[in-house]
Amino acid sequence: MTDVTNAAPYWDPYNAEQRETPYDAWRRLRDEAPVYYNERFGFWALSRFSDVLAASLDTETFSSARGITLDSIGDPIPFPIMIMMDPPLHDSFRKVVSRAYTPRRIAALEDRIRELCAEYLDPFVGEGGFDFVRDFGMRLPVMVISTLLGFPEEDHDQLREWSDVSLHREEGKEGATPEAQAAMNLTITYYMSQIEQRRRQPRDDMISALTEADLVTPTGEVRKLDDLEVMGMLALISNAGNETVARMLGWAALVLDEYPDARREMAEDPSLISAGVEELLRYEAPSPIQGRYVTRDIELHGTVLPEGAKLALLTGSAGRDERKYPNPDTYDIHRSIDRHVTFGYGAHFCLGAALARMEGNVALAEVLRRFPTWEVDRSAVTYVATNTVRGPSSAPVSL
Ligand code: HEM
Repeated sequence: MTDVTNAAPYWDPYNAEQRETPYDAWRRLRDEAPVYYNERFGFWALSRFSDVLAASLDTETFSSARGITLDSIGDPIPFPIMIMMDPPLHDSFRKVVSRAYTPRRIAALEDRIRELCAEYLDPFVGEGGFDFVRDFGMRLPVMVISTLLGFPEEDHDQLREWSDVSLHREEGKEGATPEAQAAMNLTITYYMSQIEQRRRQPRDDMISALTEADLVTPTGEVRKLDDLEVMGMLALISNAGNETVARMLGWAALVLDEYPDARREMAEDPSLISAGVEELLRYEAPSPIQGRYVTRDIELHGTVLPEGAKLALLTGSAGRDERKYPNPDTYDIHRSIDRHVTFGYGAHFCLGAALARMEGNVALAEVLRRFPTWEVDRSAVTYVATNTVRGPSSAPVSL
């Protein structure tokens, strides 16, 4: 979709071309329509860094409680999920999960991540190439999350298979395929059986910690989470932690191949990798759109965002805002970044940010150690077709 017209700016999250290359459209929104209204789909969008940041902090006006994906705001929410709650209820749930999701549990995953990288990457040493996403990027996170939550190791392959099937979407079709729906149902049944099992026999894992923790409700009542609430947590952590990390690693394949000097520097000096990961997160946000429901009329840049509006907070565009970052369209691992909003901000700031960063750091170090260069077959790259996460679903590389 070309953008060099006199027409008003247009941004469409359901258009495959704009999903792949949204940069011009986002820039025009930031410059010409910072409070953008898409008439066709009836949603609004904020695209400047400062507006996205401020809206993320104002949970009273910009509510998550009616859903957080543009196409589902207002639909019934099947079970309690913290990311779709507002404070103070949200904070009660966040405290429970924060107690279960300890720095000790995260740190303990580093060796497992390294081991998994070796398992997935070693077979390609000395070979001609592999698919950076299918053979590596999307395999790693689901195994890491399964370990984090405490699912028995013998079930991890099965969980990964269900996850692969449940994430599969047919291009041009909205919603899950029957196979994907069936895989999701099997996963939910599995989660339920694990919860039941931990209630009978607690272990030192996150599922047990969630079943045992006390929830202090906003009215001061103290109680345990029920099965559906624990399920909601497990499903949230799995969903939030799988697709996003898979996309981040997919972007690493594409962006580092486009910036070979940065790749060489990181391969030669691995201490630069963490800056490279942070810059990658700013440059290509794996989860670029956070949905909100506007609870009251609010005026911004001379436009009234009306009560009841469905709103997109474009964290992806915020990362490219020239008002915040000089030369935003350049990937520069020496840039100093005080903050970005790729992990959201405020109450819903990504619970898994530290884990995601660790996965990015370890994965890149392990890749670069084995394969200091690669070339992406650009004509074969495909992208995921969702309006929540953004990034490659397949990135074949030759070595
Ligand atoms: C590069 C990888 C990741 C990205 C880009 C990412 C991005 C985000 C964003 C933007 C939000 C805020 C959503 C909103 O404001 O509506 C969020 C929330 C969340 N993320 Fe992540 N995430 C990543 C990895 C992970 C991982 C690995 C986990 C699992 C441990 C995780 C778990 C969560 C959870 C549980 C929330 C909800 C927090 C709340 O509602 O309080 N994320 N993430």
